[in-house]
Amino acid sequence: MAFVQKSFLTKLRRFQTCLRRRSTLSTELIENMDKKATWDRFYFENSSKTSSFKNFEWFFGFEAVQNIIMPLLKTRPGPQDPLKVLDIGCGTSALGPSVYKSCLVPVRVICGDISPVAVRIMKQQFGSGAVTPGDRSSRLEFVELDCTQLDKHFDPGSVDLIVDKGTMDALMRSKRGKKNAGVVLKQCLKVLRHSGSLLQFSDEDPDARLLWLETEAPKARVGVQEVGTLGGVCYYCYHVDLLPSEADPSTC
Ligand SMILES: C[S@@+](CC[C@H](N)C(=O)[O-])C[C@H]1O[C@@H](n2cnc3c(N)ncnc32)[C@H](O)[C@@H]1O
Repeated sequence: MAFVQKSFLTKLRRFQTCLRRRSTLSTELIENMDKKATWDRFYFENSSKTSSFKNFEWFFGFEAVQNIIMPLLKTRPGPQDPLKVLDIGCGTSALGPSVYKSCLVPVRVICGDISPVAVRIMKQQFGSGAVTPGDRSSRLEFVELDCTQLDKHFDPGSVDLIVDKGTMDALMRSKRGKKNAGVVLKQCLKVLRHSGSLLQFSDEDPDARLLWLETEAPKARVGVQEVGTLGGVCYYCYHVDLLPSEADPSTC
């Protein structure tokens, strides 16, 4: 519990207010952020609050980060191939559907989460034509997946962009700590296309996250930019770019 940041506790307090009653959910979240059952309960309780659906954003939404994401989605990998974008730990965020809507070249957006409750909610809200794509051949999918096992779902070197908003943070703050986070990073590097990118949106300080990324992904180019401040907490976008000449899924 010592490594749980102050900003994170602020966030949990916000959820408690949001849920309008005290619950054991925040304790469960702090201790078990890598567990499917915890997140199932979180999304179930959150969706039961009102009859009308509202996307839940762990922190800021697409508007705050579109200028970072969309410039990476201008060119398709081949004349017949759509871009492939993966949102790992999508929850019920509007990020994936917004990329699908805003991308003007053909794109396949895959929103994946370990929680079947979150995936079911998203399918209900965004299934069959609920969102108009930026290109009519684009596709939007919601799948139950464990991001520690991405290679069960995707071929090596097949994904152009992976977006992670808060998911790595959740894993790093779980009891099993950085071990799982390291596995996820390796899985991302494995399924990313050469010259593909992983974007991690996070409130973790660059002193810690940059060092970790540089150590875990020595063959990638790693960078950071500030996204903005929300509730007194500063958020960052960490870029992990595979370099075309050096990328090698077997050694990343
Ligand atoms: C902090 S929330 C972020 C949700 C969403 N990206 C957002 O911005 O609102 C972390 C998400 O990661 C999901 N998650 C946790 N462990 C996972 C895993 N091993 N594989 C896939 N998703 C996972 C949780 O279900 C949860 O939706």
